Amino acid sequence: MRVVSGIQPTGNLHLGNYLGAIRNWAAMQDAMDEGSEALFFLADLHAISQPHDPAGLKAATLEMTAALVACGIDPDRSVLFNQAQVPQHAELQWLLNGTARMGWLNRMTQWKDKAGKNREGQSVALFTYPVLQAADVLLYQATHVPVGEDQKQHLELARDIAQKFNNDFASEDAPVFTLPDPIIPAEAARIMSLRDGSAKMSKSDPSDMSRINLSDDADTMAQKIKKAKTDPEPLPSEEAGLADRPEARNLVGIYAALSGEPVAAVLAQYGGQGFGGFKPALADLLVAALGPIRDRFVALKDDSEALDAILARGAAKARERGTPTLNAAYQALGLVRHQ
Ligand code: TYM
Repeated sequence: MRVVSGIQPTGNLHLGNYLGAIRNWAAMQDAMDEGSEALFFLADLHAISQPHDPAGLKAATLEMTAALVACGIDPDRSVLFNQAQVPQHAELQWLLNGTARMGWLNRMTQWKDKAGKNREGQSVALFTYPVLQAADVLLYQATHVPVGEDQKQHLELARDIAQKFNNDFASEDAPVFTLPDPIIPAEAARIMSLRDGSAKMSKSDPSDMSRINLSDDADTMAQKIKKAKTDPEPLPSEEAGLADRPEARNLVGIYAALSGEPVAAVLAQYGGQGFGGFKPALADLLVAALGPIRDRFVALKDDSEALDAILARGAAKARERGTPTLNAAYQALGLVRHQ
C-alpha cells in the first residue's frame, strides 16, 4: 500500500479540508502496516497556477505544514514535504504532457470553474494543473489517494494518463505506472459553505464567515455556526427530509462527520427541533474536535526552523522514493536521464 496526497498551501486549513481529506490522511497513516508507506505534501508548485503573493508562499507553506502536523501527520512515520524541493514532480509532469490530451483537460470541471469566461487569459499552468497532479501520485506508484469529492475527476484523469502511458510505452507485464484509487469519505466528502449550501467550503471564498478555519478560536467557531445560513423549518426526522434543504443538510452532515454517527442517528436525536437547539450542540462538538488541534497548531506554527527541518528531511526521502519510477518513465520514452 502506498498512500499519497497533497494540499495547496494557500489560505488556511479549513473544516472542509480536515473532514474531507486530512482526517483520513492521519487515519490511514495510523493504520499503515510494515512495508506500506504514506507520503503527504504541500502542493506549492500548484499554487503558482493562479495569481499569488511570492513573499507569502514560503510562510504559507510552513504554516500548512504546522497544520498537518497538528492534525496528526507524524513526520517520523509519513514522508512530509513540499513539491518545490522534489524536482522529480515537475520533470514527470513534462513527460506526461506528451500523453495527456487537450480534450481530457478541457473537460476538467475545476478548470472550467476557475477559468470561467476568461479561458484565454488563464495561465498555461492552470490548464495543465491536473497533469502535475497526476505526476504527484504516479511518481510514487500510489495505490490509495485520500481526497475530498472535488478531486475525484483529477484522480480519474491520473488513471487515464497512467493507462495510456502504459499502453503506449510499456509492455503489459512491466507497466511503468500503478493506477491509483481515490479514497473518499462517505460522510463529509463535500462540506459546503456556511453562507451558501450550494457552494463548497473553500479557502478562496471572500467571506471568512463561509468557513471554519483551523486557526479560529472557540468563540469565532461558535459565532460562525450561530450565523450559519439555515431555513425556518425544524429539522426533519428522516434523511429524505433534507433533500431540498442544502444548508440544513450541510450542518447535519458536519455534525455526523464530527460525532462519527450516521446522519439518520443525528436526525433521530434532533428531528423536530429547531436550529436554536441544534446549532449550540454542533458548535460544542466542533470546538471539542478542533480545539486541541488548534492548540497544537498555534504552538508549532512560528517554529520555522523545526518546520524547515521537517520539510528538508521529507523532501530527501521523497526524491529517493520517486527516482526509480522517473528513470523508468524516461527510459520507456527513449530518453536517458542525467543522474
Ligand atoms: P485543496 O488544497 O483544494 O484541498 C485539499 C484537500 O481537501 C479537500 N477539500 C474538501 N473536502 C470536502 N469538502 C470541502 N469543502 C473541501 N475542500 C477541499 C480536497 O478534496 C483535497 O483532498 N489539487 C489538490 C491538491 C493536490 C493533490 C495532488 C491532491 C495536488 N496534487 C495529488 C491529491 C493528490 C487541491 O487543490 O486540493
